[in-house]
Amino acid sequence: MPYAVKERRIDGGQLVSPAPKPALDMSVNVAGITLKNPVMAASGSFGYGVEFEDVVTLDRLGGFVVKGLSREPMAGNPPPRLFETAAGMLNAIGLQNVGVRAFLEEKLPLLNNIKNIVFFCNVFGHSQEEYEDVVRMLNDGAGIAAYELNVSCPNTKCGGISFGSDPKMLFDVVSAVKKIATRPLIVKLSPNVTSIPEVARAAEEAGADAISLVNTFVAMAIDAETRKPRISNVTAGLSGPAIKPIALRMVWEAAKAVKIPVIGIGGISTAEDVVEFLLAGATAIEVGTVNFWDPCACETLVDSLEKWCLEHRIEKISDLTGGLTIE
Ligand SMILES: Cc1cc2nc3c(=O)[nH]c(=O)nc-3n(C[C@H](O)[C@H](O)[C@H](O)COP(=O)(O)O)c2cc1C
Repeated sequence: MPYAVKERRIDGGQLVSPAPKPALDMSVNVAGITLKNPVMAASGSFGYGVEFEDVVTLDRLGGFVVKGLSREPMAGNPPPRLFETAAGMLNAIGLQNVGVRAFLEEKLPLLNNIKNIVFFCNVFGHSQEEYEDVVRMLNDGAGIAAYELNVSCPNTKCGGISFGSDPKMLFDVVSAVKKIATRPLIVKLSPNVTSIPEVARAAEEAGADAISLVNTFVAMAIDAETRKPRISNVTAGLSGPAIKPIALRMVWEAAKAVKIPVIGIGGISTAEDVVEFLLAGATAIEVGTVNFWDPCACETLVDSLEKWCLEHRIEKISDLTGGLTIE
């Protein structure tokens, strides 16, 4: 462990010890699940976790969230579907995934072979029934710590309006899934709403055990030369450092509006970013886009967060949650 205090000699040969460093407790509790530290990899940036086994010591992370799972496999959108912007990234992957059955048969056994890891399954559907079906199937799978419901998905039965942008529709889908889920339910909020407190409260009232936010912001980019959109889908989700200040404000607003734990997401790449989200009210955080430029980013972040806490003589990282001081 990195916390050992070593003795050292000063000039006169006298044996002295440095001032003892406080013991550091990096653990946090989200929805009844203990994470060894607050750093998780976000859905869509970390595959199904197993792909990262050779580059990341997975059991160093607080946890990770697997790619969003739907009832049927999905091929996603045609390319181009990724574009780098100033301080951010646009994506319109189109929720490509292997489907819940292939996840259970092919990915889950591999995940269950890895010791001491915590992972959540991210779930989405195009109707309430689809969300319910996916969760019902996952209930039979072993080793999953919790479900994270991606509600930024269009409800095809309600004219394509996203579940997460309408508090009533959000309440209905979360209540329905909560009734059948055998594991804690985390609701991942869309930032593309007028009032974050309103949707956060709708999720809590429907029985969510925690909320996570934010998902990506609807955005676009145009090639001035060709006069064409940079992304085949025309609009795409913006993520990365560009969104951090807005995400931070939304996490702060959501944390004030609910009593359940909040997981902060949006442009996090440094230990200071993590601390800012904790101070704003988050209990844990998720890291997405930074994994695309450095696949080891989450593990490096755990190391630098520990270092930050030791340097600031923090004894329990969970004490930082909600610690923002407003004069
Ligand atoms: C390529 C890509 C794919 C994503 N796929 C999903 C997904 O399947 N489900 C989901 O809830 N969020 C998904 N997200 C959103 C991220 O989990 C995260 O909420 C968002 O990118 C903001 O965090 P960041 O700025 O750290 O990337 C995806 C993001 C990216 C960039």
